[in-house]
Amino acid sequence: MYSRIIGTGSYLPEKILTNKDLEKFVDTNDEWIVSRSGIKQRHVAADDEATSDLATKAAQIAIQNSGLNASDIDLVIVATTTPDMVFPSTACIVQSKLNISGCPAFDVQAVCSGFVYGLNIADLFIKSGQAKNVLLIGAEVYSRILDWNDRTTCVLFGDGAGAVVLSSSDSPGILQTSLHADGSLYKHLCVPGWVKGGKVDGSPMVQMDGGIVFKFAVKVFEQTARELLTASGKTIEELDWFIPHQANIRIMESTAKKLNLPLERLVATVDHHGNTSAASIPLALDEAVRDGRVNKGQLLLVAGVGGGFTWGGALLEF
Ligand code: UT7
Repeated sequence: MYSRIIGTGSYLPEKILTNKDLEKFVDTNDEWIVSRSGIKQRHVAADDEATSDLATKAAQIAIQNSGLNASDIDLVIVATTTPDMVFPSTACIVQSKLNISGCPAFDVQAVCSGFVYGLNIADLFIKSGQAKNVLLIGAEVYSRILDWNDRTTCVLFGDGAGAVVLSSSDSPGILQTSLHADGSLYKHLCVPGWVKGGKVDGSPMVQMDGGIVFKFAVKVFEQTARELLTASGKTIEELDWFIPHQANIRIMESTAKKLNLPLERLVATVDHHGNTSAASIPLALDEAVRDGRVNKGQLLLVAGVGGGFTWGGALLEF
């Protein structure tokens, strides 16, 4: 028994904030942002748009593209760092917005690795026979946890959602998964705030040691790719597409170079939505499916890295 992605979908909020727009209120410039990160613009959710709204829109498209009905879904997983509420989980709110009930629903918190963590969990649920059709969504509204005066973070992130429907299948599907974490590094990328006595203690804004995250990301992207390929007996040459977490074009291109992977086989969409954390891999995947780059039967490698630090990936036949 394998699990296989049978539908993808994504949603980006209407409002676009370009680098030029940022120049008007923070000490930065388009040239710096593009040359250091590859990002040209990001989307920002409307005041009344919550993570569950973005997630539901991406999910509806993924379900439609899978050929299933929402009522066929028997597990809902939302990977997010920016949930609607302290509780319940955003997955329960999405379940309600999809007008389904009864099946389990929960969130996964692994920051920018949330989607690959969710993919691994979905795969295990399907392989064990506990679920047949899993809806996995990565959705974020990072605009709410950014200090818009901090140029070292606010220029990098954006809002959005991507979703996949996974179903049980006799043929692969997901071939190999890998997950890791090193909690000793948690302070290098965090939002060190918490709710206490009716207010937020600490800071509710993203704090990041950019250089440390950068070097770590390149290292573990390469490690993850090699680990997955070796474990499944595949080679870089057999890989059709590498779809990494969309944080920074320089991280992605450095990894491709270390792997000897031609840039033509790298899916990079970070230029037009910035770093959308748990949403970035399914967003990039859906875009590549829609524009005809990713096709049925191709070999894909997805990899994520983020706060925790957490990292991991999956090798799959689409
Ligand atoms: O999902 C995972 C989450 N995070 C990431 O993946 C981020 C990983 N890190 C990175 O992408 C890069 O480290 C950054 C894009 C954050 C920074 O790039 P960098 O090449 O490492 O730049 P830097 O931090 O070394 O900064 C170079 C200079 C500094 O000025 P000085 O000290 O050399 O005078 C910064 O103050 O650039 C300055 N700077 C800026 N200038 C204009 C920092 N942010 C900005 C900005 N606009 N937005």
